[in-house]
Amino acid sequence: MQGVLFDLDGVITDTAKFHFKAWSRLAKEKLNVELPKSFESDLKGISRLDSMNRILKFAGLEAQYSDAEVNQFAQAKNELYLNEISKLTQADILPGIENLLDELAANGVKLSVASASKNAPFILEKLGLRQQFDAIANPAKVNHGKPAPDIFIEAANQIHVDPEQCVGIEDAKAGVEAIKAAGATAVGVGSTMDLNEADVVVADTSKLTYAVLEEAFEKRTEG
Ligand code: BG6
Ligand code: MG
Repeated sequence: MQGVLFDLDGVITDTAKFHFKAWSRLAKEKLNVELPKSFESDLKGISRLDSMNRILKFAGLEAQYSDAEVNQFAQAKNELYLNEISKLTQADILPGIENLLDELAANGVKLSVASASKNAPFILEKLGLRQQFDAIANPAKVNHGKPAPDIFIEAANQIHVDPEQCVGIEDAKAGVEAIKAAGATAVGVGSTMDLNEADVVVADTSKLTYAVLEEAFEKRTEG
């Protein structure tokens, strides 16, 4: 294991609730539609524009708006979201993550962020973790969002490590699929059945340790 590729939302910090709050408000105010709670997990790992299009589809409004209008909605959602995440501090780092980053660095493992979020650098800055990572893959630079492997391949390229030598960590089904498609070892975080394609699943971030990641890597590459 030479590199670890981190998803951000739901792995490093719990922002899914803020995404959902912002999408719900946008949907209510601009589309006059109430989003069911299930959308919170349905949109995990899905890019901003793809999320917007899924919401329009749910509302039966997908053909109603021009590309420019759809982009404006997505931008309005981002402004609501930015308002929430501007309050993030070090206290919002999920349990076990700081320790894991220290352990990995001490073992010479390179660390890269593979998030679909264009707000990743801002969030890491807020959490005081920006310096801990060797790279942050830019989702604007990749052609296909998760479950396509692109962002994980880009994150591995950024640290000059073959994806096969990397472990990826994800809380979303689309993300686990993306890690596997990139040829890396997948560690899932969470308790839902939809992570079962991962090589190893842990219940929550406090269970993520160097030893667990190393074991997952050995299991896939030698088993
Ligand atoms: C992912 C989130 O990490 O980033 C998705 O799980 C989100 O819910 C996506 O839509 C894009 O985020 P952003 O911050 O660029 O709108
Ligand atoms: Mg996530």
